[in-house]
Amino acid sequence: MIDNLMVYYPHIKFIHLFSVMIWSMSAVGAYVYYFRTTLFAAKKDPHNMELQRRLIWAYEQFDKTVVFEHIAFPVVLITGLLMFFMAGWSIDSQWLLINLGIVIGFFIPLEILDISCSGNKNFETSRE
Ligand code: HEM
Repeated sequence: MIDNLMVYYPHIKFIHLFSVMIWSMSAVGAYVYYFRTTLFAAKKDPHNMELQRRLIWAYEQFDKTVVFEHIAFPVVLITGLLMFFMAGWSIDSQWLLINLGIVIGFFIPLEILDISCSGNKNFETSRE
């Protein structure tokens, strides 16, 4: 059964790496290149209503990239675990052990915090 599934291993690896890219770059890219620029411009000129309107719009678009990020992360975890079991990887591989240490010790708690902040209405209000 697993041997038959191994033909899909490269596809799963592709989805794994593609999701890693979406997870790690979507929100950061949107923040650095679009949202931060708009935020600074609106802060410099707080009475400019057009800039304030654009800031709200940029905020809404930025929130959409955060949704992408939160979908991509579980896909990374699921496809990673699939490859782990399918190909008989073990934590004898040092890179995988270090990877899992970082994922479990840092990325998963970070994402839980991130998701709980995004869903927290009080946090939303305090940002406005
Ligand atoms: C945020 C979390 C993760 C990131 C950023 C990440 C990143 C990567 C990257 C960049 C590779 C390609 C390595 C290469 O081919 O040189 C890779 C491969 C791999 N990842 Fe992940 N990974 C993550 C989570 C996981 C998890 C949770 C597992 C599950 C145990 C996992 C299992 C694997 C396996 C087995 C491969 C090797 C595929 C192969 O070479 O055939 N990953 N990962």
